[in-house]
Amino acid sequence: MPVVAVIGAQWGDEGKGRIVDLLASRARLVIRYSGGNNAGHTVINDLGAFKLHLMPSGIFDANTVNVIGHGVVINPEVLIGEIDHLQSKGISTAKLFISDRAHIIMPYHILQDQLQEQSRGDSKIGTTGRGIGPAYADKMDRIGIRAGDLMHEETLLGRLRIVLEEKNRLLTKLYGAQAFSLHDVYLKYLDFGRRLADHITEIHPIVHRALEKDIPILMEGAQGTLLDVDHGTYPYVTSSSPGAAGVCQGSGIAPSHLNSVIGVYKAFVSRVGGGPFPTEVDGAEADALRQIGTPWAEVGTTTGRLRRVGWFDAVLARYAAQINGIDTVAITKLDVLDNLPSIKICVGYKLHDAALDYPPSTIAVLEQVEPIYEELPGWQTPTSDIRDFQALPEEAQAYVARLCQLIGARLGIVSVGPSRDQTVFVSDVF
Ligand code: IMP
Repeated sequence: MPVVAVIGAQWGDEGKGRIVDLLASRARLVIRYSGGNNAGHTVINDLGAFKLHLMPSGIFDANTVNVIGHGVVINPEVLIGEIDHLQSKGISTAKLFISDRAHIIMPYHILQDQLQEQSRGDSKIGTTGRGIGPAYADKMDRIGIRAGDLMHEETLLGRLRIVLEEKNRLLTKLYGAQAFSLHDVYLKYLDFGRRLADHITEIHPIVHRALEKDIPILMEGAQGTLLDVDHGTYPYVTSSSPGAAGVCQGSGIAPSHLNSVIGVYKAFVSRVGGGPFPTEVDGAEADALRQIGTPWAEVGTTTGRLRRVGWFDAVLARYAAQINGIDTVAITKLDVLDNLPSIKICVGYKLHDAALDYPPSTIAVLEQVEPIYEELPGWQTPTSDIRDFQALPEEAQAYVARLCQLIGARLGIVSVGPSRDQTVFVSDVF
């Protein structure tokens, strides 16, 4: 049985949540492997519309086991809020397991993230302000608090005593902020531990038993490849590894067990926060892509910020496919292009007099590239009710086929609207 990863192949917000939600019913184990509540997946299904930040999307299927892997950083307050909300809608969270190795986002991480951003002025990254960067930094610095620590009073107190002293020095001396009280933080997080006690566990046996029994496993990505701390547009990236390599590190599944990588690409490109964006558009072109006023407008699920938008960038798309081994493509939001008379695809970059077919690693250089566009005719016909690829207007089929040709992977899924059934399955994906 396959182990399939669904990963974001652009700058996040590609619509991974709905693809995972669709495929989760075919999986028996869904593992979220990286990121934190900087992610926001809007899932619209028969049970309603849900904004999930930490919960794996398989939670809507009562038969599916859901795991939050150790590559994730967890804000326990947010997770408890999601558990409570789902339970209030009659959705069981009994099969949610949280790796005891996953790191916890502490209140000082959130404050540190926000103060760091303020102090960066014009060169700020545009983080979500959720404490993601400082939490991952502490993990690497070996001063993090892990989910398992919340279950052991003495361990938690001992670790917090050391860390908080260091953090308070930083926050008060460097930023002039107020110190955190050891007593208050300890009691609050001990309580979070109690609330999550039924879920926090060693995930190794769960994951490896599933592999031994050939249970279908879906690996749920968050963020996107171009936000990857190594492969993305550094420093305008997040602090984790959202790509296929992060799947293994964040879950304990070996690379050789991964059978397929589905890359989710929006039919155009969007990005929130700062950083280079070669195909960015503004004005009327941007308005057409943003779909403001609709429930699926290009506004960040987590922060409510207006997303920057632009034409499909096949240079970045192919790069994402190459570093992740993407074999199957899911194209989302095709219907957003329904009214356009013509559609541009960036097929290469011009840098001074040279042509480039890969993105330069230095942002100062990436900022100088000029997109080379190919223009395809639009279809100017609604596609939202279409469920069969052959029934799509010829121009829409040609657009999607061209994207896949440029990406270098086969087409698996096309989505033509926000709800679960507005999906065209083109090949067997799971
Ligand atoms: P951080 O992850 O909050 O540190 O933010 C770093 C960068 O990643 C910022 O540009 C954020 O806007 C971006 N980012 C983080 N998570 C997401 C996401 O889920 N979707 C889109 N952008 C994200």
